[in-house]
Amino acid sequence: MQLVTEDNITDLAVERWATAEDPRLAELMTALVRHVHDFAREVRLTEAEWMAAMRWLTTAGQISNEKREEFILASDVLGLSMLVVQMNHRFDPAATPATVLGPFHIEGSPQLGYGEDMSEGLTGTPLYLHGTVRDLAGQPVPGGVLDVWQADAEGLYESQHSDIDEARLRAKYTTREDGGYCVRTIAPFGYTIPMDGPVGDLIGRTAISHFRPAHIHFLINVPGYEPLITHLFQEGAEYLDSDVVFGTKQELVVRFDEREPGPTPDGGTADVPWLEARYDFVLQPR
Ligand code: BEZ
Ligand code: FE
Repeated sequence: MQLVTEDNITDLAVERWATAEDPRLAELMTALVRHVHDFAREVRLTEAEWMAAMRWLTTAGQISNEKREEFILASDVLGLSMLVVQMNHRFDPAATPATVLGPFHIEGSPQLGYGEDMSEGLTGTPLYLHGTVRDLAGQPVPGGVLDVWQADAEGLYESQHSDIDEARLRAKYTTREDGGYCVRTIAPFGYTIPMDGPVGDLIGRTAISHFRPAHIHFLINVPGYEPLITHLFQEGAEYLDSDVVFGTKQELVVRFDEREPGPTPDGGTADVPWLEARYDFVLQPR
């Protein structure tokens, strides 16, 4: 019989988990065992602390459902999601960088035409966000689909409103022959991540800001190119330097210029003041 001691338990557990049939699973699990054991040793984890951690995980599971992903949120605020994004999307420096997907993307957003309004029926300052989608050589990418989504003026996505079932503030725009796209929406605001769960409880015991700067999400999936999941952030927005999910990058910060009523980039006319932002997305070939 092998006697278990404080000194040999890590080796014994690693040996066991090394038996996983899939070699990658064996690599992941043995490294995980080594690192969590090292963590427990380093902080001299007490039983009360360990139990509090188990209860925290249970609560995170209980609050999660098809509309709420507390574990993803935990990964986001720990910086783990963004680390995984950066390691797995090492694009050419000239390509548009990737950021976190976040928990609020959904499939099946409505298809809209060039400059059609994805904020129909909602009040806010009109925003025209337009530019091109190009490759690294500067060639336009026609027929590319931009899946776009953003939070409303209360800083909430529709899944966070119990009384809203239909898609809101999200749409798919297809690039024209010249690679051009034009999104018509309302200006986004910074917002707080959900603070009513175990992630919020932990953050509330720190000096961490629980806000994200004003942004619009994009998912651009074009055959022959790396799928691009990213956001654009408003220049000068609050929280750019303290984004709670570490998602901001200088290359993704764009100017929102104030415009007087008059012609808009889609060929129409605005009868109220509006905002214009320009951004050219550059895709990384596969
Ligand atoms: C978002 O921007 O939608 C988001 C990203 C990570 C956590 C919470 C929200
Ligand atoms: Fe968001």
